[in-house]
Parts: sequence; structure tokens; C-alpha cells
Amino acid sequence: MEIAKSKAEGELLNWDDIQRMKYSWNVACEVMRLAPPVQGAFREAINDFVYNGFSVPKGWKIYWSTHSTHRNPEFFPEPLKFDPSRFEGSGPAPYTFVPFGGGPRMCPGKEYARLEILMFMHHLVWRFKWKKNIPDEKIIVDPLPKPEKCLPILLFPRKA
Ligand code: HEM
Repeated sequence: MEIAKSKAEGELLNWDDIQRMKYSWNVACEVMRLAPPVQGAFREAINDFVYNGFSVPKGWKIYWSTHSTHRNPEFFPEPLKFDPSRFEGSGPAPYTFVPFGGGPRMCPGKEYARLEILMFMHHLVWRFKWKKNIPDEKIIVDPLPKPEKCLPILLFPRKA
């Protein structure tokens, strides 16, 4: 709202505005922590190794899980609590928050996705109020988490 109020009527968002949307991005990150859009991905072991007492031979396929990584209480105390302040300051430790993966095959669309998410949030919050048509709509996983009926809402313009 602070950024929206600083703009003249019809003035477009610019790159600096996006960089200033720290709280909105913390909220988006906390949503992606609790409901990661991608559940995980595969890796191939390039050497034999032992992890947590399990021997993994070279050549095996490994599946890393976004969902269970994001709910590890060692890194996210009270993991089921929605708390965007977890992302303040330097944020979570490396490789504990991985909605876009990690390492050389990390999602190349990450920055583009950030831009899109922040612009969408800005316009939705600034221009509309809304009401859910189905108050307790179920979330299904197919294969990504989504509202069962695609979240029908009523939109009300904020400005006359
Ligand atoms: C919220 C939005 C998005 C999420 C959560 C997401 C998540 C991911 C994840 C978890 C991976 C696997 C990374 C890994 O294996 O370490 C991935 C890969 C990939 N993503 Fe995204 N992504 C998003 C948006 C996008 C967008 C907007 C694009 C393109 C414009 C994109 C293009 C790709 C591509 C090409 C790969 C494969 C990279 C590779 O294997 O080298 N993604 N994404």
C-alpha cells in the first residue's frame, strides 16, 4: 500500500518499486514454504555416499522433497505457523528454503516468477477487494496444490 500510495494516477510500477516490496515478498515466500508449487525433483548420485546411515550407490536416482525440507522444525520453528517474519534479515539458512530448487539446476525462471508474483499481488490488493464464493474450498494436489474449484471469487473495485 505504501508503494501504491507513492504513485501518481496511472503511473506504472518500476524496477525500484519491485525491489522495495520486501514485506510482500516475505509473504509470498511464506506461502511457498507452506504450500510449495513444486513438490521436489530428482538428482543422480555421482558418487557412492552415506547419508543419515543410508548407503546411496553411485548412479541411483534421489528425490529431494520441497515439502518436508520446508517443514523441518530445526530450521523453521513451529513449522505449521504462517509467519512471514521468518524471511526478515538474512532469512532461512542456505538450502533449507528451496521452492525454486538449488544448485546448478535451480529454476532459471525464479526472478521472472518473483516479478510476476509481486506485480500480481500489487494490482490485486491495490485495485480490488474480494470475497471467496466457497469459504472453505478444499485444496487438492494434482500434481500441484490448487483450490479444488479454481478459487471462484467476487471482485469489488476499490476506487469508484
Ligand atoms: C513460482 C513459480 C516457480 C516455481 C516454484 C518453480 C520451481 C522450480 C523448481 C523446484 C525447479 C527444479 C529445480 C531443481 O531441480 O533444483 C524448476 C526448474 C525449472 N524451472 Fe521453474 N519454477 C517457477 C517458475 C518458472 C518460470 C516462470 C519459468 C520460465 C519462465 C521456469 C522455468 C524452469 C525451467 C526451464 C526449469 C528446469 C531447469 C533445469 O533443469 O536446468 N520456472 N522450477
